[in-house]
Amino acid sequence: MCGIVGFTKKKYRSACCLEVLLNGLENLEYRGYDSAGIAVSDMEHQELKLCRAVGRISNLRRVVEEEKPEGSCGIGHTRWATHGKPSVENCHPHLAEKKTVAVVHNGIIENYQALKLQLQKEGVHFASQTDTEVVAQLLEKQYCGDMKKTLERVLPQLEGSFALAILDRNQPDTIYCARRRSPLLLAKGEDGAYLASDISALLDYTRDVWYIDEDSIAVLTPEEIMFWKDGEQQFPQSVHINWDSSAARKNGFDHFMLKEIFDQPTALRDTLNHYVDVEKGIIRRETMPFTMEQAKALKRLTIAACGTAYHAAVMGQSLLEQVAGVPAMAAVASEYRYSTMPPMEGEVFMAVSQSGETADTLAALTHKKAQGLRCLALSNVIGSTIAREADHVMYTLAGPEIAVASTKAYLTQVLLFEILALDLANLRGVLSDEELKVRIAELAQLPEQVEAILASKKTVEDFVQTQKNCHDIFFIGRLMDYASSLEAALKLKEISYLHSEAYAAGELKHGTIALVDESCLVVVTATQSVVLEKTLANMEEVRARGAELLLLGHFPVDHPHDCTVWNIPACSDQLAPILTTVYAQLFAYYMAKMHGCDIDKPRNLAKSVTVE
Ligand code: G6P
Repeated sequence: MCGIVGFTKKKYRSACCLEVLLNGLENLEYRGYDSAGIAVSDMEHQELKLCRAVGRISNLRRVVEEEKPEGSCGIGHTRWATHGKPSVENCHPHLAEKKTVAVVHNGIIENYQALKLQLQKEGVHFASQTDTEVVAQLLEKQYCGDMKKTLERVLPQLEGSFALAILDRNQPDTIYCARRRSPLLLAKGEDGAYLASDISALLDYTRDVWYIDEDSIAVLTPEEIMFWKDGEQQFPQSVHINWDSSAARKNGFDHFMLKEIFDQPTALRDTLNHYVDVEKGIIRRETMPFTMEQAKALKRLTIAACGTAYHAAVMGQSLLEQVAGVPAMAAVASEYRYSTMPPMEGEVFMAVSQSGETADTLAALTHKKAQGLRCLALSNVIGSTIAREADHVMYTLAGPEIAVASTKAYLTQVLLFEILALDLANLRGVLSDEELKVRIAELAQLPEQVEAILASKKTVEDFVQTQKNCHDIFFIGRLMDYASSLEAALKLKEISYLHSEAYAAGELKHGTIALVDESCLVVVTATQSVVLEKTLANMEEVRARGAELLLLGHFPVDHPHDCTVWNIPACSDQLAPILTTVYAQLFAYYMAKMHGCDIDKPRNLAKSVTVE
């Protein structure tokens, strides 16, 4: 979705403002966008200069090269169209009519039509169909000679969500910012002050960032950053992000997605070592969200998330119930945010979100917090909005995830659910310290087991070549294999645009089997011993309808199943779905590659969905 970047340069420093803006926008490309633009304050001519282009940043670079705007302070934006089609007029930044104010915006101004109508009645002419332009026009119209005071007057008139970065023609080295329910972070570097909607835009310059509080204003000059809330100056602490900028590069892989699939052993190791002392076979108490008393009092954990994170939540639900005997419920956040269920005594809520910024997940958390529930978060981004809103955060240590289709974040989310379930089981007295040690030793093998699957990528690639004409793929499994099938089907449809569906294997014959014929591929995941025979019987049902079969699990070399089998290393039933998922990720990747799809930036999708 939309991305914001901004920079105001110190005098006599060599950094090039335009390059910082364009480079920042390129680093935000992964979020998905359809057009991009920048605005710079030209001190000499006392004007705000715009360069905008539809399509890729390379198009914007061409416009910048032709028009050669000058300035050492500017803002940039990648737009993912919501109000008005992708066009140069609708592209951010937006200038107010008299060109005194330029604005970039993430989020949605929900009352923009009413505001626009009012401004039009007052004689203001609009140049775009966007909600954002209303902000620029309001700021110009209500300008009182001081942009901070003007913002304090305008912000309460806006309904909805926003992260705003604003240039005022009268102060050519200053950027004004404000936010409500949309992320924005600020940073100081050697060359000046920066802002961005996402740390990836700034990793080349700094690691220490400030987050702006909800409904706050920040003012950036080359030398300092000032924060204001309700008219009072604030002095927030900065947060250190220890991501490596090379982690946000492809490092020789054809796509970020493949690189991130191969990052998984490291991501699992880093996450595991943070929460668990593998040598001693204990969980590090200080990293866990529950004390023994809280664990015993826990009656239900409700988990809300979107997309792949929701699938991790489904996996978490099974793990918490099976391992710790904790009733759990995974919910789709966009639905759950409107749930009218009153909170239950002993209930705890958890939001799962890689980015920590997904609007629906955040709304579900805010809703539950308002009901007085203790709220936990599981996120990959330090200091993200969801992380800050929660009472306790468990971070996945997956590093930056750039490909739209989530891989390493998902695997580490599931690992965290494994660890949480073990911890709760131990605290609630259903798993002894000795048993815990054994389970931790199994977890410690996961990174190597994932490496073993990655080493057989050629097997996956070769199989995919036999599937050129396959356009319908069903993923079936039972219990945790159903949960992993949901993710396998999503991965495939997201990046290859092939029709794929996941079904609880036993449910297939209640309808969907009508669709199965010899043109379909059915991927059967069968790792859960308690239902193994039943799943294999379901496999026979689809075989009888002529479908081609691919079987994932652990089967002997001389297995009797007349189909392609991809084996995973020996492991417990609870860890097996993590390993079959790696095959599913590789399968989706090579299918998408064979069909020539834009794997890292699939059509219509965005990495972080910050609007409802
Ligand atoms: C988008 C992305 C998905 C992601 C989902 C939730 O739909 O394309 O890959 O799983 O958002 O994102 P989150 O950051 O909350 O995990």
